[in-house]
Amino acid sequence: MEMHPFVAMNGIEKSFNGVPVLKKVTLEVERGEIHALLGENGAGKSTLMNILGGVHQPDSGQILIGGEEIKLANPHVSQAQGISFIHQELNMVGDLRVYENMFLGSEIRTRFGFLNVEEMCRQTHEILAQLGVSIDPKEYVRNLATSYKQLIEISKALLHKSQLIIMDEPTTSLAEHEVSRLFILMKNLKKSGVSIIYISHKLKEIQEVCDRYTVLRDGQLVKTDIMQNENLEVITKLMVGKSISQDRYVHEHEFGELALEVQGLTSTGLFKHIDFTVRQGEIVGFTGLAGDGRTELFESLFGYRKKYTGTVKVKGKPVHITHPRKALQAGMGYVPKDRKENAIIKDLSVIHNMSLSSMGNFERMGFIQDKKEQEQFNTYKKALNIKVHNPRITIDKLSGGNQQKVIIAKWLEAETDILIFDNPTQGIDVGAKQEIYQQILTLAKLGKAIIILSSEAPEVMRICHSIHVMYHGEITARFTGDEASEEEIMHYATGAKREGEKIG
Ligand SMILES: Nc1ncnc2c1ncn2[C@@H]1O[C@H](COP(=O)(O)OP(=O)(O)OP(=O)(O)O)[C@@H](O)[C@H]1O
Ligand SMILES: [Mg+2]
Repeated sequence: MEMHPFVAMNGIEKSFNGVPVLKKVTLEVERGEIHALLGENGAGKSTLMNILGGVHQPDSGQILIGGEEIKLANPHVSQAQGISFIHQELNMVGDLRVYENMFLGSEIRTRFGFLNVEEMCRQTHEILAQLGVSIDPKEYVRNLATSYKQLIEISKALLHKSQLIIMDEPTTSLAEHEVSRLFILMKNLKKSGVSIIYISHKLKEIQEVCDRYTVLRDGQLVKTDIMQNENLEVITKLMVGKSISQDRYVHEHEFGELALEVQGLTSTGLFKHIDFTVRQGEIVGFTGLAGDGRTELFESLFGYRKKYTGTVKVKGKPVHITHPRKALQAGMGYVPKDRKENAIIKDLSVIHNMSLSSMGNFERMGFIQDKKEQEQFNTYKKALNIKVHNPRITIDKLSGGNQQKVIIAKWLEAETDILIFDNPTQGIDVGAKQEIYQQILTLAKLGKAIIILSSEAPEVMRICHSIHVMYHGEITARFTGDEASEEEIMHYATGAKREGEKIG
C-alpha cells in the first residue's frame, strides 16, 4: 500500500489584485513531523497557510489530505479535516472572557441545552496548565498581557485535538520559559502523530524543534530538506538570496552631550536603584529574561505608568514625566513592543500609518502635504525593503513583518532627540533586521540618543555601544558592546552573578 503524506499542496498559485503572491508552490507534510516554513517578510508563508486553513482559495493547484483531493472551501471545512490554525494576528475578542474565546463557535452545552460554563472553564484551565499558565478562565481577555493572549491562541488550537497544527509565528511575544514549555508540548504532540507547520523568524528555534524545512522566496519554492545538521547560514542565504553577516557593527564615532541621565529610579515592585546615562550619538542596550523589568522601566520613563522616585534629566534639565505627551514634548520617542497590538491602526492606509507620528512635519496650513508624505514613504520603502504595491491600501493587507517595518519607519522619521525601541526586530526577517540596524546606526551618527530593549542578547551585542543587563528590576551588569559575551550576559540575566562581583 502506498503511504501518503498527511497533507500535500501541489502547484498552488494565488494572486491578489493581479499581483502574484504564490507561484506553483508545493508543500508536503508527513504525520508526526514538525515542518518549518521559512522565508523573508512577504514571501507568502501566511498566504499559503491561509489557503490550507480555508481562509483563502487558491487560483489553481490542488490540496490532498491523506492522498485524497479536497476543496477547503472555508475554515470550517479545514477544521473538520483536522487542521487547526494559530494565526500570526491574534484572533481574540477582548470583551469576552478567556474560556468564551477558547470555545467561540464550539461551545459545550449541558444536555438541557444550556451553556456548560463549568466544563468549559475546567477544560480551559487544564489546557492552559499544560503550557504552565495560571490565569482565571473567567478573566476578560482585554485585561491580559499580549504573551497570555498568544498562549490562549495556542491553547485554542490544542483544544480541537487536531491532526495538523499550523503555528504562524507563535512565539513573537513569549518569554524564554514559555517558549520552552511550548516546545516540550510540540514534541509530545509529534510523538502522538500530530503534524505541525511552524513559521518563525527566530532561526535558532527552527533548528531546535523542526524536522524538515521549506523555504519560499517571492512566492516561489526554493528548497525542501531535512533540518538536521543544516547550517543556519545556508538557510539564511536561501531565504534572502545573499549571505548576511552576523558580525558586530563597527561604528566608533564621537558622542555628544548627555542626552538622558537617570539616577536612583525606583518604582515599587517593578524596578529599583536604576542609574544610567545616554549621550547623543550613543546606542545603549538593555537586555534580560522575562520579569527583568526593562519594559516597565522605560514605560515609566515615558509616562505610561504610575509614578516613580529618583531623578531624570533630559539634556541636563530635570523632568518628571507623568504622561506620554510630556515625554514627546521633552524630545523622547518610544516604539513599543507588540506593535501589532499597540501601534498599528488597522483600517488606515499604509502611508498614513507611517506618517501619523510625524504629522506635524507634513501639516501646513491645515492640509497634509501629499508630496512630502509620498517622498518619505518612498525613502523608507526602499531603505527597509517594504513589500507593498500600493501604499493607499489598508495596512492589514501587508504581511506581518512588513507592517512592523512601516511602524519602525514612522519613528525613524520622528523628530525626537531620544529614541527608545522595545524589541525593534520582532517578527522581522534576518535580511530586514540588518536594514533596521543600519537605520538605527544612521540616526546615532546624526546625534540621536538611542536605547534598545531586547530579549535577544546577540541583538544588543551587535549594535550597542554599551549594554545593561537586568534581573528582577535591577541592573546586574554593564558591558561595553565589544567586551560582552552571550554567556557572560546570561550569568547576570539569571541572577547567578551580580554587578559588584564583576567590578570588585
Ligand atoms: N488580503 C490581501 N490583499 C492583498 N495583498 C495581500 C493580502 N494578503 C497578503 N497579501 C500580500 O501577499 C504577499 C505575501 O504576504 P504573506 O502575508 O503571505 O507574507 P509572509 O511570508 O507571511 O510574511 P511575514 O514574514 O512578514 O509574515 C505580501 O506582499 C502581501 O502584501
Ligand atoms: Mg506572515
